Amino acid sequence: MPEEKNSQPKEKEESTTEVLLSEDTLYNAPELFARNARASDFEALYRRAEADPEGFWADFASELPWKKKWKKVLDDSKKPFYSWFAGGKTNLYTAAVERHQATAVKDKAAFIWEGENGDTRTITYGQLHETVNKFSAGLRSLNLNKGDRVAIYMPNIPEVAVAMLACVKMGIVHSVVYAGFSAQAIQKRVEDAEAKVIITTDGSFRRGKTLSLKEVVDQALSAGCPSIQHSIIVQHAKNPVTMKEGRDLWYHELIAQDLPVPDTEVMDSEDPAFILYTSGTTGTPKGVVHSHGGYMVGVYTTLKLVFDLRESDVYWCTADPGWITGHSYIVYGPLMNGVTSLLFEGVPDYPKTDRIWEMVERHHVTILYTAPTLIRMMAKYGEAGVKAHDLSCLRLLGSVGEPINPKAWLWYYEHVGNKRCPIMDTWWQTETGMFMICPLPPVPLKAGSAYKPFPGIIADVVDKTGKSVPPGKGGFLVIKNSWPAQLKTLFRNPQRYLETYFEKIPGVYLTGDMARRDKDGYFWIQGRSDDVLKIAGHRLSNAEIESAIVSHPAVSEAGVIGKPDPVKGEVAKAFVILKSGFAPSPELSQEIRQHIRKTIGPLAVTDEVVFVSKLPKTRSGKIMRRVLRAQELGEDPGDTSTLED
Ligand code: WTA
Repeated sequence: MPEEKNSQPKEKEESTTEVLLSEDTLYNAPELFARNARASDFEALYRRAEADPEGFWADFASELPWKKKWKKVLDDSKKPFYSWFAGGKTNLYTAAVERHQATAVKDKAAFIWEGENGDTRTITYGQLHETVNKFSAGLRSLNLNKGDRVAIYMPNIPEVAVAMLACVKMGIVHSVVYAGFSAQAIQKRVEDAEAKVIITTDGSFRRGKTLSLKEVVDQALSAGCPSIQHSIIVQHAKNPVTMKEGRDLWYHELIAQDLPVPDTEVMDSEDPAFILYTSGTTGTPKGVVHSHGGYMVGVYTTLKLVFDLRESDVYWCTADPGWITGHSYIVYGPLMNGVTSLLFEGVPDYPKTDRIWEMVERHHVTILYTAPTLIRMMAKYGEAGVKAHDLSCLRLLGSVGEPINPKAWLWYYEHVGNKRCPIMDTWWQTETGMFMICPLPPVPLKAGSAYKPFPGIIADVVDKTGKSVPPGKGGFLVIKNSWPAQLKTLFRNPQRYLETYFEKIPGVYLTGDMARRDKDGYFWIQGRSDDVLKIAGHRLSNAEIESAIVSHPAVSEAGVIGKPDPVKGEVAKAFVILKSGFAPSPELSQEIRQHIRKTIGPLAVTDEVVFVSKLPKTRSGKIMRRVLRAQELGEDPGDTSTLED
């Protein structure tokens, strides 16, 4: 959602955030961070990284285990296909879990899991390693080897991390599909990756209901997915499932066998660790590929410095493992840093709206990393829920997924952090793998700004020719150099990698976001410049929803736009032209909404489906969503010279 320059809350609030100060008001970090943070000498960090970015990254890389040291930190001879730590040999699993086995971290909780019904489980680093070893032996018994692909479709339970880690250990490339996606969405992703195995559960819990994930997977497998040889099912919900003889295997039976544990594969730094499909501007998702070496260094370093991780931290990132935030900052980042990470299967406002605060208090969470949509939802519930709990355990807060508006920022700062906790608003993407624009704990913050690029990263705001725009003006957010966790390519589609990110404005990485910088150099992210939606922080594309709608038998054409929403940030609205013989009705509108849900998944909720007789199009027949949006929101449609009618 675009951030207005002087966005002031319109309604009157009860809290002390009643009067918003100007956007230049600085929120200074508590004393402790200025004196005592990992990045307390932040000016020196920025200077060091600017003078010698490769040296800066190499220093942090040296804190992680390498079987063979790299020859070159950054090889840009084939740019924009960059190589990081080329010649180095390592494995992300060794950095995340194996290296802790020889230290005191072994007996510490890697994950504390809590289920929706309040059940808890604690898994130490030692137990995690043991389970991963057993599961990797099970995977080997199915003849899975380095380079093979495995799909994972699971709720937020410890076994999702076990599955990811066992793959990475063996050099198998995992592709996690968010459990809110439909059978068709699974099928698309499994077929593109040619996954041999899919790992799922008998079910999951959400707001008191049991969802049968295996059933969804079964639908995907019966519709296609010829590459799948087996599905592995974790027994979790004790939901009755039908097992297909020869194809379906129980996870608990697979790990109970006494099989030889495969060695951890020695991977080239540049070898792929995982694929994560994300929405682009077309109906076909992009398979973003991340490596072992560069990814591990980027994620480890950013989490350590930005969240100031300490051994005693209990860290809670409320994301789902099915998104990049879950990969980098629930699984790999916290594990590499040896902290305890809280994993929660439920939703933060169920069964009571203060569930999240009750959990922070009970688990003594020290770092909370969440999304603006959740903060706004909690603010809507009011302050009583937060005030009912002792949140003095918190020392640092984080935000991710969409721009955080100043009002939500201040609510988070005052009521959750009690003005003691700095807020790290981290701007990044599936493609960047790691934080890119974000503060460090000791820097002076502005409510709603993601601060400046992380040390070693050069970001700019430019016009469409690539020229920097002056402070105060909006433009395209670009990155001008490479960073360790940069995506390697798009799976089997290097051409799309080049076209999407590097050709529209030559010489830089095009993020797809709009931003402006203020006179102090602070970045204010304004939202996407392309047709990518952010609904409650979930990334979807207009084209994906449109293609789901036109697959309905009554529909001839559809145009989807994002509309600002006070809680979700953005919601989708669809304009639909029906085929002749079909008449508009509220029932049909509802049926189309259900159809979208079935085709993409429950996450693709489309708030409104309206029927129209015409859509604004270019002469070549492309629907001009920009014009639809301008009409809907009463904005200036911009250049309409290509509009046909
Ligand atoms: C948006 C999520 C403003 C942005 C990690 C980006 C943000 C997209 C922020 C990537 C933030 C993420 N402030 N906008 N702190 N963080 N975004 O790939 O539009 O799911 O391009 O990765 O989320 O979404 P993705």
